[in-house]
Amino acid sequence: MKLYHAPASPFVRKVMVLLHEANATDRVTLVPAAGHPLDPGTMPVDRNPLGKIPALERPGGPTLYDSRVITRYLDDLLAARLYPAAPRLWDTLTIEATGDGMAESAVLMRYEVSVRPEPSRSAAWVEAQWAKIDRALSALEDRWMSHLAGPVDMGHIAVGCALGYIDFRHAERDWRAAHPALAAWFATFDARPAMQATAPAA
Ligand code: BEZ
Repeated sequence: MKLYHAPASPFVRKVMVLLHEANATDRVTLVPAAGHPLDPGTMPVDRNPLGKIPALERPGGPTLYDSRVITRYLDDLLAARLYPAAPRLWDTLTIEATGDGMAESAVLMRYEVSVRPEPSRSAAWVEAQWAKIDRALSALEDRWMSHLAGPVDMGHIAVGCALGYIDFRHAERDWRAAHPALAAWFATFDARPAMQATAPAA
């Protein structure tokens, strides 16, 4: 299988963490891809019309996207068991969506300064993205710590990848100060070999 990949993407990282947790990194060949909303560059637009990564070319079917489809597929293929049975599944999927939403806002904040021309940038828009992340951090801190204390699933991985990306691109926001339980959880989760092997890089 071919995985279209960029080392900074928190969504690609979710897939890579799953592969490491399942001891299955040898099942994919990484294909570098780079681009952004103003220029798809080498993004696989012929494979994913949205021009986004990760995208997974697989035998016997169309290329899969987005990260949540790919992780469900690989979890099934590899029997990784990173999606629990219902009813716990509903919590896992909600936490995964929370992590993915945080990562999406953090990537949009990054694009605003790295891609959008200076005269069109909006500080208010950036702060509105951060407000989403801040609310999600509080939801994790207030509602989901008991789940995060349990067996590792794709909810943990999505939140871990989102926090890793926030540290990578938005370290000045100091999210740990107001979210001490989440910060303590992340210190332990981020030490897992699968997280250490996939740390974001420019
Ligand atoms: C980044 O460089 O921050 C980035 C790269 C690919 C996807 C998302 C973010």
